[in-house]
Amino acid sequence: MKKILVVFGTRPEAIKMAPLVKELKKESSFIVKVCVTAQHREMLDQVLSFFKIKPDFDLNLMQPNQNLNQLSGRIFTEIDIVLENFKPDIVLVHGDTTTSSIVAMASFYREIKVGHVEAGLRTYNRQAPFPEEINRQITGRIADFHFAPTEASAKNLLAEKVSEKAIFVTGNTVIDALLWGIKNVNENNVDIEKLQQVINSTKKLIVVTGHRRESFGEKFKSFCEALKELSQREDVQIIYPVHLNPNVQKTVHQILKNNTNVHLIDPLNYEAFIWLLNKSYLIITDSGGIQEEAPSLKKPVLVTRNVTERQEAVESGVVKLVGTSKEVIVSQAVKLLENKEVYSKMISKENPYGNGTASSKIVEILKSF
Ligand code: UD1
Ligand code: UDP
Repeated sequence: MKKILVVFGTRPEAIKMAPLVKELKKESSFIVKVCVTAQHREMLDQVLSFFKIKPDFDLNLMQPNQNLNQLSGRIFTEIDIVLENFKPDIVLVHGDTTTSSIVAMASFYREIKVGHVEAGLRTYNRQAPFPEEINRQITGRIADFHFAPTEASAKNLLAEKVSEKAIFVTGNTVIDALLWGIKNVNENNVDIEKLQQVINSTKKLIVVTGHRRESFGEKFKSFCEALKELSQREDVQIIYPVHLNPNVQKTVHQILKNNTNVHLIDPLNYEAFIWLLNKSYLIITDSGGIQEEAPSLKKPVLVTRNVTERQEAVESGVVKLVGTSKEVIVSQAVKLLENKEVYSKMISKENPYGNGTASSKIVEILKSF
């Protein structure tokens, strides 16, 4: 029987690997084990609990305000022990985090095959997203199987001379997670009950998130100033679940605390977050995953970045890149708040990231090897 080790460490990887883990576990010809590096802790555990995934190996590596080199060192050391003991035939990693690229490298050093889920996204700008662009390229060089979410990401890999036989266009597993998640939302969830008390249904709800390293400092301040200005409008309400990275927490709280129209809350469990997205009028974010989810929920997204590896969402109209200038963020948001035609046009297209069948496609491909 084929031994498969699925490894992830952060919130978005967990969300996007969860449906694949469920699908893999249905296969009697595989022995499947899950290893979490716990590069994130609380934010990872929220996801594991919703999808009812109990890791076989928990490396428990997160440290407060962690340094990426030290984190990488800890991952190399600890994952090696798991590889040595379990001896997988294939390791599956996801996307562009430090967990993905280091685990891919460690598996390669042990001559274990690597499957890369959500492969081929590129900006070709090493500073943005930093360090994710290079993490993704490194994993792409190492991987034996490339599960590309879209044709455009497959084309990037072909242009880098990855063998066509090793590239599979599957859609993005984030949609599998979202569709399963929406069906399984339980409104008695404590976080949802709290949100229900906060939401003012007479106002337009703006849901905000932000965490990108390349924006820390002045850009992040300017993004928060834009939210402050928008919050002065009577017709909006802002809810912002703040990422636990201390660099994010500090700036957000400095600029937006004590603002009665901006609700700064802890990261929400996935169930409550997708419930909240569904209630929103507009999303302002720099998150990758949220850009992929929003088209399915028919919500327009202003992305506070200058470049994106998710060009499909921009082309479909549902995502607009607005950068981090306060004036641009405010004026683009106001346009969507005031102009119904602009709003409707943005949400009119199909989701380019798939239809919820990515995980089963990946399993079929793995079965055939
Ligand atoms: C990481 C990924 C990024 C991904 C993001 C998703 C890298 C280099 N970065 O960035 O690609 O988009 O996750 O959110 O891999 N923290 C907690 N509890 C948690 C999670 C984080 O306290 O559950 C705090 C800790 O102080 C931690 C810090 O946030 O040291 C940073 O976490 P880290 O994973 O290094 O970076 P992110 O900015 O979260
Ligand atoms: N998300 C969540 N709770 C929150 C904010 C986001 O569950 O409070 C989910 C969101 O639905 C998406 C994922 O987390 O699936 C995005 O994670 P993040 O923005 O941290 O990382 P990125 O996608 O940018 O790598």
